[in-house]
Amino acid sequence: MLVEGENYRTVWMEGSVVKLINQLKLPREFSVFSCSGYRDTADAIRSMVVRGAPAIGATACYGMAQAALAGVSLDVAEKELGTTRPTANDLQDAIKHFKKNFNGKNAVEVAEGYANKSIERCRKIGEYGEKLIKNNSKILTHCNAGWLGCVDYGTATAPLYIAKQKGRNFFVWVDETRPRLQGAKLTSWELMQAGIDHAVIADNAAGYFMKKGEVDLVIVGADRIAANGDVANKIGTYGKAVLAKENNVPFYVAAPASTFDLKAKTGKDIKIEERDENEIHFVENTRVTPAKSKARNPAFDITPMKYITGLITEEGILNPWEKPESLL
Ligand code: MRU
Repeated sequence: MLVEGENYRTVWMEGSVVKLINQLKLPREFSVFSCSGYRDTADAIRSMVVRGAPAIGATACYGMAQAALAGVSLDVAEKELGTTRPTANDLQDAIKHFKKNFNGKNAVEVAEGYANKSIERCRKIGEYGEKLIKNNSKILTHCNAGWLGCVDYGTATAPLYIAKQKGRNFFVWVDETRPRLQGAKLTSWELMQAGIDHAVIADNAAGYFMKKGEVDLVIVGADRIAANGDVANKIGTYGKAVLAKENNVPFYVAAPASTFDLKAKTGKDIKIEERDENEIHFVENTRVTPAKSKARNPAFDITPMKYITGLITEEGILNPWEKPESLL
């Protein structure tokens, strides 16, 4: 996507160095973060320099390529990269892809192939999903399921970008997404770059706008989708889905086949990452809770399939209980 008129993707490789748009600095500063070895790349995923399911998948694939170039055993690299974040299925999908396809081939080309396929998947999600974006409609999204969370286009935002290219006019409500503020910091920045009209709202405000009839459609991304259609996504997604059902607002999940985990029978089989409680205690380095209060910080939740209107995939818009054909 374009940043100040220049074309960028979230992750790429130069020689043996993995380059990432540094998401910890946005929106205040646009800068590129360099990882010179697979361990640096694993650290970048862990510390959220890069985040979002397809983006961390592609980054891990490049990390595997770095390990191969350095002559490190792929099993050792898998152990390091594959345990950086537990919930996103794309991470495992990407590592599996690299191990299956490398066989002494050009390591960078194998990772590049995965990243390019990921871009194509998101572009197709956009082509199918744009039909849902009606002229003059209002769409709500949660977290960052934009191009920064993928390699390009995004999952939930791909339909928005394609609809915009086709000349449609619409407005986006952006949930701020406590505690890491992916909506406030990243989605808003992306939409701003793309010239899409939007407003950031507190996470608690979505129900207010739905009840007033000011939300026509919700689109979110996913980190892992179980075989029965239950969806793991950023904490707060479940609440938005329940509110959408209560207010008769269609609720779509946009995700590529790489996010589906058919080994997880239901949402109960999905591991939910619980992050450091200081992400709750501190806002921009200032402690806002009493010194002795405890906090809990689950990073994702499960939205049961019954709340989902449809799944926007690169293979078409599916019923929430269906899976992409390529996985069957
Ligand atoms: O903790 P994060 O920022 O990696 O979580 C990201 C999300 O939950 C996104 O909504 C998800 O990956 C959607 S696809 C980009």
